Amino acid sequence: MMPKKKILVTGGAGYIGSHACVELLQAGYDIVVADNLSNSKTESLARVQQITGKNLKFYQADIRDKAALDEIFDQNPIDTVIHFAGLKAVGESCSKPHLYYHNNVYGTLVLTEAMQAAGVKRLVFSSSATVYGESDTPQYAEDFPLGAINPYGRSKAMIEDILRDLSAADHINQDPSPWKIALLRYFNPIGAHASGLIGEDPNGIPNNLMPYISQVAVGKLAQLSVFGNDYPTPDGTGIRDYIHVVDLVKGHIKAIETLDSDAFGPGGCKAYNLGTGRGYSVLEMIQAFERVTGKAINYQIVGRRAGDLAECFANPKRALQELGWQAEKNLDDMVADTWNWQSKNPQGYGSLM
Ligand code: NAD
Ligand code: WQD
Repeated sequence: MMPKKKILVTGGAGYIGSHACVELLQAGYDIVVADNLSNSKTESLARVQQITGKNLKFYQADIRDKAALDEIFDQNPIDTVIHFAGLKAVGESCSKPHLYYHNNVYGTLVLTEAMQAAGVKRLVFSSSATVYGESDTPQYAEDFPLGAINPYGRSKAMIEDILRDLSAADHINQDPSPWKIALLRYFNPIGAHASGLIGEDPNGIPNNLMPYISQVAVGKLAQLSVFGNDYPTPDGTGIRDYIHVVDLVKGHIKAIETLDSDAFGPGGCKAYNLGTGRGYSVLEMIQAFERVTGKAINYQIVGRRAGDLAECFANPKRALQELGWQAEKNLDDMVADTWNWQSKNPQGYGSLM
């Protein structure tokens, strides 16, 4: 068997990144993590090593720091980068747009510059379903028009543009070793590793539905606000495509393998939806949580949240056909694993570093 490749995981200490580290190590990859710990703790990486019984190399580094990245590429024969590092709070991006464009867009410019200088031109990027614009149908395919509506979403759309342009330039320049880039558009990642050792640990009051519900269940928050019950959906509440984080990160391993394969072609930049293809409403999520955990969720209906769509779920066909990936876990798995993590770690990683 060929030795497995060395992967640089930016943002590897975060929620999705830490789950990716587990799957990568278990699949036999060597990994180097670069994270500035702005929204995470090294405890997550200690637990990754506990789960897998394997070591990883960690750099506390900011992706905007070119010298730090150059050093990482100098010291490690990196083959592919999985780029999770980024800020992700929609509301905060509206009040601090400069921070989001600087961190996410400028950060990716610096990262790709360092990659190019080191001759590393395989990249798997964390994009988001939030890059899609308005559509007549709620099931989004990769060729639907783009049109993000907030600075966070626009930062992802701008990065996608930059990466497509880098790839197009290779064609113009007839570069003999062109970029190979997978843009993975996540729908709504939830859940946690089955061990309950790693999971989502939001700072302050959660913005997203699932961490909010689980913090109500564990008694940290008093009541969930359901944002609107007058949408044109069967029960009036918003519908989303929730995907188990472990399924999601497995899609990244399939993407690395696909970039390596002849099927991807000599180079290119391509987007893939990572979702289940099935949506659930907010009320369905509450009911599933109550059924699976036996915990009652206190909630009230309030007005709609600005910027929310009624319904959004993935057309996941391209990922199945071209990456050979599809989600395997169901809603009960997502809820049970969220609760396993939350109940074992009511304060998340708490005061651990
Ligand atoms: P997260 O905040 O848990 O993880 C992001 C990690 O990146 C953190 O560990 C943070 O410290 C690090 N980071 C941020 N800026 C950095 C910088 N300049 N240099 C180095 N490290 C930096 O978030 P997550 O949920 O794991 O999301 C990972 C990626 O997936 C993000 O790019 C996010 O935008 C994207 N995404 C997330 C979701 C979601 O719902 N969680 C959905 C779609 C896309
Ligand atoms: C889901 C549903 C809410 C909280 C966001 C980002 C998106 C992506 C994923 C990164 C909606 C309702 C929520 C609450 C509620 N992140 N809700 N009460 O908005 O689909 O996507 O996270 O890329 O960019 O926008 O996810 O979990 O916030 O909301 O009723 O307290 O739950 O209205 O219908 P969303 P969400």
